[in-house]
Amino acid sequence: QASTEVDISAIQPGQAIKTVFRKQPLFVRHLTPKEIAEADAVPVNSLRDPQSLEDRTKPGKTQWLITMGVCTHLGCVPLGAGEGENRGEFGGYFCPCHGSHYDTAARIRKGPAPTNLVVPDYVFRSDTVVEVG
Ligand code: FES
Repeated sequence: QASTEVDISAIQPGQAIKTVFRKQPLFVRHLTPKEIAEADAVPVNSLRDPQSLEDRTKPGKTQWLITMGVCTHLGCVPLGAGEGENRGEFGGYFCPCHGSHYDTAARIRKGPAPTNLVVPDYVFRSDTVVEVG
């Protein structure tokens, strides 16, 4: 199936956008240094689905967090990719369907979701263009 190119040049630190990949929501988030530090401060072994931010991003590009926008509980679209939306108790994403809270690495921290938001296959075609899929 086709890949999708995303222009990330306009996404400022602290912002996240919602776009579409293979008919599903895709989140692209430009993390601030504070958000990166918050993610890195969490002991990986304490997590329900143990992954570091580095596991979930590309080398040298840890500020770009690219995940599916599909809650791993029952598939709702979490909030947090858009201005002024609820990012939940851990500053990442919040799924209002049954109250799953994801952190700034989109890792599940509280609520019923069993796993982190899924990171799709992608590559950086340039500093400003990501090819997903
Ligand atoms: Fe997200 Fe249930 S679908 S918490």
